[in-house]
This record gives sequence, structure tokens and C-alpha cells, in this order.
Amino acid sequence: RRPTPAIFVLYGATGDLARRMVLPAFYTLAEQGLLPEDWRLIGSGRGDVAHEDFVGHVHRSLEQFGPKPDNRTWGQFRKKLRFAGGDFANDDGGPLIEAVRQARQDLGEDAQLIHYLAVPPQAFIDLTDSIGKHGLAENARVVYEKPFGTSRKSFRQLDRAVHQVLDESQVYRIDHFLGKEATQDLHVLRFANRVFEGMWNRDHVRAVQIDCPETLDVADRTDFYDHTGAVLDMLVTHLFQVAAEVAMEPPASLEPADLQAARESIIAKFRPLDPDEVVLGQFAGYRDLDGIARGSKTDTYVAARLWVNTPRWRGVPFLLRTGKRLAETRQTVSLILRDPVGPFGDLPPDGNVLRFALDGSGEIDLRMVAKAPGVGLKLGVASARVPISEVAAEEPLPPYVRLIHDVLTGDRSLVTRPDGLAHVWKAADPLLSTRPRLKTYQPGSWGPAAAKKLAAPDGWLLGQ
Ligand code: BG6
Repeated sequence: RRPTPAIFVLYGATGDLARRMVLPAFYTLAEQGLLPEDWRLIGSGRGDVAHEDFVGHVHRSLEQFGPKPDNRTWGQFRKKLRFAGGDFANDDGGPLIEAVRQARQDLGEDAQLIHYLAVPPQAFIDLTDSIGKHGLAENARVVYEKPFGTSRKSFRQLDRAVHQVLDESQVYRIDHFLGKEATQDLHVLRFANRVFEGMWNRDHVRAVQIDCPETLDVADRTDFYDHTGAVLDMLVTHLFQVAAEVAMEPPASLEPADLQAARESIIAKFRPLDPDEVVLGQFAGYRDLDGIARGSKTDTYVAARLWVNTPRWRGVPFLLRTGKRLAETRQTVSLILRDPVGPFGDLPPDGNVLRFALDGSGEIDLRMVAKAPGVGLKLGVASARVPISEVAAEEPLPPYVRLIHDVLTGDRSLVTRPDGLAHVWKAADPLLSTRPRLKTYQPGSWGPAAAKKLAAPDGWLLGQ
């Protein structure tokens, strides 16, 4: 069943996130027939962009970030695009009010209004207030990007401001790492296969590594990045949510509310980060980039050891790492398994690892010790790899496609919850108040050497 007609207001429509992620995802939904029968996408942004220029902007975004617009889908798609410039915070709300009124007239009063805030977090409160002030909150859904807050205090302020205007059921805080196919396989593989559920605990798992190095630079988004840094951009957002996916207790059912509750409630058990167990870095040359503040202390790299205080995970380190301008781009979640008690003495190091690759279209990989062929008994390490694209004939969905579809259909399973986020900021608090000294690292390297100690005795699986 297709979702009900929708009016999708995209704030920050000419910004980086909209170009790279949101507009391509919206177009993919159109291509796959997953949008409602009828819809409007109203771009909102400062400045006066002529209608044709906005259509051109959307077309260029697709050309650059895909999927390439074809004549048939694009011909229909472009007719539903609108742009409303001006300042929405003004007393009369500017042209956006008229654009929404017009869209309601075209689609019917029951059309689902969706506000998508593809803007920096500093703009969330004002925009939410304006949505309320101009009467556009009723029955609407509002999508917030991460980070939702930047500290314990700002999270509380933002949460209060949001709930003054919206009921929790209207709020969609998204974290696109949760929308990745392989991230969702963490709970599917585990709860649908007894062998994996049986080993998902401290008796079998020695350490968990969530490792997301990136070769990427930040040169085209210095303004956002210099105000954010790796801890807020990745660690306490994407990597914490993925850690919650790994650490959660079984949900009561696979209903969206139960899945969401299982993931978000485990965050309460994250032990607040100890700054002595965190390494922060900045790549050499970062401060010379255009748009970066002189002497900036923004972290472009973080490695941290997180502990989850539950009987299931007591004593198992969760090692989280990410950074810009590193040697490789990968997104991996690895459960490093303990050696069996048995007749074999020394086994190959890291011979038994269950690894999820979250990047690309996703892959699951089980590394295991096996007999090397030939006479005698020599051990080798073999690997069973399952690309997720081979699980079924359907193409894996890019995360933003999945998440926007969830918003259109009202599925909240991947939405983050305020109680979970309150605990995220509680766990992050010691690090945000006592920041370890920033270490410089060379672009193309694996980051500051100090991070090696965090992962001792195993070391990091990547980059050895
Ligand atoms: C974004 C971060 O949320 O995620 C970026 O802001 C990061 O800094 C990106 O590069 C990585 O996600 P993806 O979709 O490229 O896997």
C-alpha cells in the first residue's frame, strides 16, 4: 500500500545534505514507486531562488550524486517541485505559508505534512518555533538530523523546545547509520539464528570494534565541521547508536516500538566515557583549510573505549574509532570471539571474528579457523562472506531512502528516542567537559599512535 499524499517541506534545500542525501533519496523513492500517488516537495531556504533554478539545482544534485535522472521519472518528478524562499521566521512566515496552502489545495486537506530539517543543529529550535507559530505543526511529522543537541544542556533545551510544539509521536530524529541494511542485520542475524544469539554475550565475545575510518576530507563543509568535530558528528551519534544495536537485549517483538525501545533503553547502561580512555586527534593541515578557525581545536579523529554495564557485556570493551583523512574508508562492526577451551594451544590471532561491513550495500563475514589442506594438521583462517545483495533479488536500499520511506509511512523503529538521547549525552558528558589533549596525525595514516593502547592486547583489526 502506498503512503497517503504528502507535502514534504525541505529546509536547507540548497545545502550540502539536501544535495548529497535527501534529494537523491527522494528521487530513488520515486523511481521505485515508493512515494505516495501524489506529493509536493517544497524547498525552503534563505535567498530568492527562482522556480526554474531550483528545478535545475535538484537535477544537478541527481547528476552528481545519483541516481541519474531519466526522462520518464524526471519528467513527472520535476512537476511536483516548488521553492519557497524568504525568511520563514518572519511574522507572516513568508512565501512558505502560501506554498503549503497551495499544496493542500492541490492534494487535499488530509495530505500528510512533513517538515525535513536538513539544517545545522543550531537552527533546530528557531525552525521548530516557527513551525508552531505559523500553524504548521498540527498532525505534521518533523524530521531532525543528528546531532540532536551538542551537550547535556543543549539537548535538554532542544528537547523542551521541540515538545512545546510537537507530540513525541510527530518527532522523527534520524541517524542514517541505523538505516543501513547491514546495521539492521545486526538484530536480524542475531535473533533469527540461534547460533548467533547463543554467542552474543561476554562468554563468547572478547571485544567489539566499531571502526569507521574515512579518507574523506572536510574541505567542502568546513563551516559545519569546525563547529561539530568527530565526537559529535560520529562518535556519540552514529557509533553510539550502532553500539546500542549490538548491545541491546532482545526486544519484546519485532514491532517498531519494541525494536526502538530495546535499542534506546540499552544506552542507559553505557558507562560515561572516561577521558583517559579516549584519544582525540586532528590531521596535520586541517587548520590551513579555508573556513577553519585559526588555531581550531576541533577533533577530526576519535578513538574511545566504551563499557556497557549489563551482565551480558560486563568486561567486554566496545572500541569505537573514526576520523577524517585516514588511510582507508571502511565501516565495520566486528565481534571478536574468544578462543575455545579445547585441545588446540595457540590459535591464529583474531581467527574467529564475526564482522558486518556497513558501507556500500553491506556484507556479513565470518572468519574462522580451519584446517589448512594437506598432510599433517596445520591451521589456517578462512572466511565466509555474504554480500547482503545476495540475500534476495532486491537491491539493498540506501539508508536515506529507507528512512524517508519510514517517515512517509509512519514507521518509527529506527527513530531515536529522547530517553536514549538523554543517556547518550550523559555518557558523553565527562568527555565534553574534560577533553583530552588533541594529538596531531598525518593525513593518510591510521591516526595518533596513542590509540593502539586502547585496543590492547588485540589491537585494531583494521590497519594492522
Ligand atoms: C555523516 C557525517 O553523518 O556521515 C559525515 O556527517 C560522514 O562526516 C558520513 O562522512 C558517513 O556516512 P556515509 O553515508 O558516507 O556512510
